[in-house]
Amino acid sequence: MKIGIAKPFLKWAGGKTQLINEIERSLPFEITNKKFTYVEPFVGSGAILFWMLDNFPKLEKAVINDINADLINTYRIIASKPKELISILQILQNEYHNLDGKDEEKKEYYYKKRELYNTRKEEQSGQAALFIFLNRTCFNGLYRVNKSNGYNVPMGSYKKPTICDEQNILAVSDALQKVEILCGDYEETLKEATTNSFFYFDPPYKPLSNTSSFNSYAKDEFNDEEQIRLRNFCSKLEKQGHKWMLSNSDVKGKDTNDNFFDEIYSEFSISRVKARRSINANPEKRGELNELLITNYNYEQALQPA
Ligand SMILES: C[S@@+](CC[C@H](N)C(=O)[O-])C[C@H]1O[C@@H](n2cnc3c(N)ncnc32)[C@H](O)[C@@H]1O
Repeated sequence: MKIGIAKPFLKWAGGKTQLINEIERSLPFEITNKKFTYVEPFVGSGAILFWMLDNFPKLEKAVINDINADLINTYRIIASKPKELISILQILQNEYHNLDGKDEEKKEYYYKKRELYNTRKEEQSGQAALFIFLNRTCFNGLYRVNKSNGYNVPMGSYKKPTICDEQNILAVSDALQKVEILCGDYEETLKEATTNSFFYFDPPYKPLSNTSSFNSYAKDEFNDEEQIRLRNFCSKLEKQGHKWMLSNSDVKGKDTNDNFFDEIYSEFSISRVKARRSINANPEKRGELNELLITNYNYEQALQPA
């Protein structure tokens, strides 16, 4: 089978496909003319990772990280045992599709698989397959866990979702061969940086209002203190000479008096861009919103060599 272009294998809150054009316009020149290491400390579904891997021939190595151990296990299994994973996914897909039209049985099947996933007793490839299965069949592709790390998203209403995208899993597996996959806090990625490294940060967003809060991908919340710790880490990278870009929600767009990001990133370049968010239970809130792109370099001139 011919290996195609790798694309994200998950639906993920905050998936960045919509922002690719803006990100492309805002990249530092250094990554187009010399070899570099790409570092993505909050990788999620990796929309930018896969795009970078496909479009930047000077990308010599990539380092990805996420605090979600189940997500990272899935990346590692795709990288190391794609065929084993595909065969398990094919079984899950056949079983699930065969229940089409039998609503009660289908529901029972979904909740049994969710329960099995939460025991975390399957071997790693089984666990990775269940992770993908739940992502494809749950409500809106959400990943939400309770305080004890129990995945608790209800079933979605897709009729026959693709659970096993064999071609993409093989393409992703191939693309991941030059990617180092870490699991832990984002600060750990600094150890893997090389002299010409570019970091792209897509942290859990600061909620636009108290009720719209969807930033718990993991059991620990990413609050304002965490946003400030991240800024401190970015300042440290700046001192060490690394280039970085960070995206976040534009809280000022919602409340003009909210200068949180303008203040904490006042030393850096802040621009406001339009982006669509796709994960929101309320369709009216899926419309256009501003996002911030913050960089520690000036990209107006960045892509034009002097
Ligand atoms: C906005 S999402 C990233 C979305 C990603 N850009 C995409 O395209 O799917 C934020 C990610 O940060 C992870 N995360 C939360 N706290 C973290 C931490 N302290 N260190 C590393 N990753 C963390 C979450 O598990 C989640 O996957």
